[in-house]
Amino acid sequence: MTRPALEAPAPGTGVRTAGPCGPTTGPVPPDAPDPLALLNLFGDGFIRDPYPWLDALRAQAPVHYDPRTGLWLISRHWDIRRVLLDPAAFRPDNAQQAVTRLPMAVLRVLARAGFQLPPALANNGAPSHSGLRRVVTRFFNARCVAAAVPVIERIADELLAVTSAHIDAEGEGDLFTTFAQVLPCRVLMELLGIEDVDPATLIRWSDASLELFWGRPNPDRQLELAELVGEFHQWLSATVSGGAAASGSFVGALARHRLPDGTPLDHGTTVSVCFFVLIAGQSTTGQLIATVLRQALAHPGLWPNLAQQTGLAGAWVEEVLRREPPVTTWRRVTARQVELGGAKLPAGAPLLLMLLGSGSDPEVFAEPDSMCPHRPNVRHHLAFGAGRHRCPGASLARTEAAVALRAAARRLPQVRLAEEDGERPMLGLLSFRAPLRVTVVGEQTIDGFRPATTAPTRRTPNLQG
Ligand code: HEM
Repeated sequence: MTRPALEAPAPGTGVRTAGPCGPTTGPVPPDAPDPLALLNLFGDGFIRDPYPWLDALRAQAPVHYDPRTGLWLISRHWDIRRVLLDPAAFRPDNAQQAVTRLPMAVLRVLARAGFQLPPALANNGAPSHSGLRRVVTRFFNARCVAAAVPVIERIADELLAVTSAHIDAEGEGDLFTTFAQVLPCRVLMELLGIEDVDPATLIRWSDASLELFWGRPNPDRQLELAELVGEFHQWLSATVSGGAAASGSFVGALARHRLPDGTPLDHGTTVSVCFFVLIAGQSTTGQLIATVLRQALAHPGLWPNLAQQTGLAGAWVEEVLRREPPVTTWRRVTARQVELGGAKLPAGAPLLLMLLGSGSDPEVFAEPDSMCPHRPNVRHHLAFGAGRHRCPGASLARTEAAVALRAAARRLPQVRLAEEDGERPMLGLLSFRAPLRVTVVGEQTIDGFRPATTAPTRRTPNLQG
């Protein structure tokens, strides 16, 4: 068992050893008195290196009450799985509740924009859920995703051409803002038939929503975020009520949908479905791609093989989903008194399922600290949840990340991670974590920078690779 560093970015006292798949972190001397009392899920130490904390939670307190958030942290893989697979005992109602209380001034801004989020998908435990979910899966099932591959490849190539030219001219570039963040947004817009807004605006709205509901913003920041979230909601509301949605579009499909009692969806619920899908469908995947790229560039010898070796990019994405998924936690609430992981929980107890840590549970994954892209049970991770609410965008997210990784390795074969001054910025919300910058440099030569683009552009039909 490793013990958490006390508000330090990483367990510096960890003994580094080498396993067959690369370096692993060994045990850390137990020098911290009651370290879990110092756990701060929004603290810099936890955001930068959550693993020692998650190891300690699993080993010492698998069902742990966190006084800072008022949530019960559930950290063992099998306990989390049990919760996800039992929606009668563990309801999804609190999945989208604001983590930081919204003061009256912020509520007024949201109310002026007509903002409301009636239960629709992730926070809906009612019978209407399954039908609404079917509408979503029709747009993101494996067949649709396979058909979307040329779209994903085209957009990836377009974005990388610009990024590559920038690196050639400037010597360095950021793969997050120019590529990872934009690709899923543009893909989603094409798949859902969204045309009347630009990707940068959609990204800004989506990121603001994540920070307002899953972050720890101060009151001034909450007001700024609420203005953006209000704009987002108003745009969605106008799109839904405009009546001009093409019949093949997502909004058109929702307009045709009927609830179990035969009635059409009301306006508020339609907006609520769109709100969640537009956020879930792009921000999370952008975060995944950023982590996938950073980890691949940091792993010795991996980058040159990604474009060539069939299956390697897909396997790397899967291993990143296990070890460092972008959706780090998800919430449930107990419907009645239950026993979980040896603890008795009262009815109405809000739970925080530690998805990120569950991928490193040694009960399930051998050598969990090591990146082993071809480990046999890699798909047993819970990065996409499980059961009735399991992420319907999993196939799209996996495919986009694999295409993005392969395309970047092919178009930018000479780049390497830049050495950065100071701490690199990280997104650290209650449920979302990822690098906010992936700065790369072209290989330096005596005369300047060797162009990043030296390999010919080639379309690869094999999606899984
Ligand atoms: C790396 C990317 C992604 C990750 C890690 C992720 C993760 C998750 C997780 C953990 C849940 C909750 C599952 C549960 O409660 O059991 C979820 C739900 C959901 N996700 Fe994703 N997601 C990703 C991408 C996407 C994409 C691309 C879309 C849409 C295109 C999407 C749409 C949804 C929807 C609609 C739900 C709610 C499903 C329901 O309640 O039935 N997600 N996702």
